[in-house]
Amino acid sequence: MTAERLTDVRSMIPSISDTTYLDSAGAGLPPLSVTSAMRSFIDDWSKHGEQWDQWLEEVVELRRLFGQLIGGAGSEVGVVPSVSVGLAGVASSLDLRKRKKVVTSSLNFPTNVVLWQRMREAGLLKDVKVMKGTAGVVPLNEWEKAIDEETAVVAVDYVSWFSGYREKIRDIAGIAHRHGALILVDGFHGIGVFPIDAKRDGIDALFGGFYKWLCGPHGAACVWVREDVLPGLNPSYTGWLGIRDNVIERLRQKRDVFDVPFPLDRAPPAQDAARFEWGTWASVVVRGAIEAVKFAQDYDPASRYQVITKRREELTSGLEKLGKELLTPAGDNQGSGIVTFAQKNHKELVKKLASEKVEVSGRFDHVRVSPHFYNTSEEVQTLLDALSRASVQ
Ligand SMILES: Cc1ncc(COP(=O)(O)O)c(C=O)c1O
Repeated sequence: MTAERLTDVRSMIPSISDTTYLDSAGAGLPPLSVTSAMRSFIDDWSKHGEQWDQWLEEVVELRRLFGQLIGGAGSEVGVVPSVSVGLAGVASSLDLRKRKKVVTSSLNFPTNVVLWQRMREAGLLKDVKVMKGTAGVVPLNEWEKAIDEETAVVAVDYVSWFSGYREKIRDIAGIAHRHGALILVDGFHGIGVFPIDAKRDGIDALFGGFYKWLCGPHGAACVWVREDVLPGLNPSYTGWLGIRDNVIERLRQKRDVFDVPFPLDRAPPAQDAARFEWGTWASVVVRGAIEAVKFAQDYDPASRYQVITKRREELTSGLEKLGKELLTPAGDNQGSGIVTFAQKNHKELVKKLASEKVEVSGRFDHVRVSPHFYNTSEEVQTLLDALSRASVQ
């Protein structure tokens, strides 16, 4: 990305000049296009009340745009309130009569582990294998050992929220499929960071929200399910928007959305990924999420990732020079936007940095730094300088 292009991005993000913000894995900074779209939604709503048909069309548009971002079609995408809700919806759709085992990883965000543990506790699953890994990596041969003919699902995060380790998704998908298991991937820390082609990666279902690397609002996420996998995933729970002949289908057929009553004696799931959308959307959030995807699409994903990679490398070498113990695996890690180092008293350090207007995230004896494509080398240096001044053990 050229220097001009970078200046251009920064000029669209008002909050960027106030702080050295290096916590995009926590929440990205919203560009003006996102906040003004949401503001104009509120203005219209306040003047005219509900604009139902238009808001439903925007859900369809968000499905399409999210699909484009990860190499899928809009019909394969459902818009849901959060990644956790999306995962639970797909989990409720699994046929667990023959296979009752899930293989997951301790590197995952908690939802993608506790969801499966809860299902085991509820008697829906027999076995949940949580891969432990060493030095922040679960090697492929461990996946190979754990996944077998009993496995219904391999549940893995594309990038670890904690260490930033980027899984070898295509290889894990290959192992899962050889054993007849599905692979469900939480892509929250991948989407918007590096280019993703879910089909090429062999992913069966991919989940992602907007408020981190896509710089959008909280309160919406997307579920993508590969077209040929969709018919086999029938949710155990639904709502009026998840069934066949739902209001969006009616609207798209240019019908009155209430032209015929909804059936009460059956509930066939929608043919497309709308089967995972059960109730009314937070339309203001959908409006912001659309702009967030457009913002991401305005910059070539490969060159965004080049900038992120550069920042990560500057950060890694700077932290090493400061003698920090890196928890982000080096070597066999294709890399992401996250760099983590060990830090006792992490709270004290994060507070000290915040007092110098440097924002990173600290938790469980470590500090996570996550530069985005809108961050500069100077900002990385500002953090490194602040760290070298901070005398926290
Ligand atoms: C990888 C990952 N997945 C999911 C979540 C939570 O998403 P949601 O609150 O939308 O369920 C987070 C939040 O930090 C995360 O890091």
